[in-house]
Amino acid sequence: MVEDSLSPALGAPGTAVIVTGGASGIGLAAAEALAAVGRNVALWDIDGSKATAQADAIADRFGVKTLPVAIDLTDIAAYAAAIDASRSALGPLGGLVHAAGIVDMGSLEGITPQSWDAGINTHLRPLALLTQQLYGDFAANPGSAVVGIASINATLGNAVNPIYSAAKGGMLSLIRALADRLARDNIRINAVSPGQIRTPMMQPAVDNLPEGWFERRILLERLGDPAEIGRVVRFLLSNEASYITAARAGRRRRQYLVAAAVGNPPTISIFATPDLIRGGEN
Ligand SMILES: NC(=O)c1ccc[n+]([C@@H]2O[C@H](COP(=O)([O-])OP(=O)(O)OC[C@H]3O[C@@H](n4cnc5c(N)ncnc54)[C@H](O)[C@@H]3O)[C@@H](O)[C@H]2O)c1
Repeated sequence: MVEDSLSPALGAPGTAVIVTGGASGIGLAAAEALAAVGRNVALWDIDGSKATAQADAIADRFGVKTLPVAIDLTDIAAYAAAIDASRSALGPLGGLVHAAGIVDMGSLEGITPQSWDAGINTHLRPLALLTQQLYGDFAANPGSAVVGIASINATLGNAVNPIYSAAKGGMLSLIRALADRLARDNIRINAVSPGQIRTPMMQPAVDNLPEGWFERRILLERLGDPAEIGRVVRFLLSNEASYITAARAGRRRRQYLVAAAVGNPPTISIFATPDLIRGGEN
């Protein structure tokens, strides 16, 4: 499947996409970006009423089919029915965005068996099991791809949220591990590792830190807008990105948008820049 034209292919393939965490923030922005180029989207979220409101709004605004699915991703027994419902409502499935997330702020002292399970089973386990359960759909539908929303903390680590950091680091390793297997059927999988994006999850940190704390550490001197991540996700799920797999698009501390090629063998680098460091900042 190689495009022989240079026309934009952001809306291709035209298959439907499941977006976990689709009711808010980055997941919602990804769903909107995909709908804007005509792709049907299923908004899976633990907050069913918010998912319903956003699914209706997207359908009205972009004229695509949408489906809200109220689901707790830690409940793996619910996956099969949710996949069937998504396929029945929206047609062939060709994309997964795993953006659902929670954040633990308890540092070392806050690690409990319950918080550990919640963090790992919200971020890491669904990426593995949903990819596994969607494999047949994706293999049957050319151009299919998966995007996992990891985090800057996957590679930096963060003393405040060790479970979150571990789960996100696990997502990067899992994506590298799955890429090789998925490539057998031309299914691509990539990570996006955002820095600080203005969403409900990030707002408490913005409110509790001194004004400008994040901005001073970001080359572009502002937090990102969810739509700016949504567009990267849309690109990675599209035929525009047909030769990109096992890559990580994101921001590392003091670095501009960098994506390292981590395939085996390495495939491609996107947005590669030298390590840019802002002078005088700690
Ligand atoms: N905002 C940032 O700066 C930032 C930075 C790096 C990574 N991320 C990641 O981006 C993703 C989206 O986060 P966001 O900032 O948009 O936050 P958000 O809180 O706006 O959205 C997260 C969504 O996930 C849903 N969710 C939580 N637990 C769930 C579960 N068990 N089952 C189903 N849905 C569940 C929530 O209801 C919510 O709608 C997360 O994985 C987060 O870790 C965010």
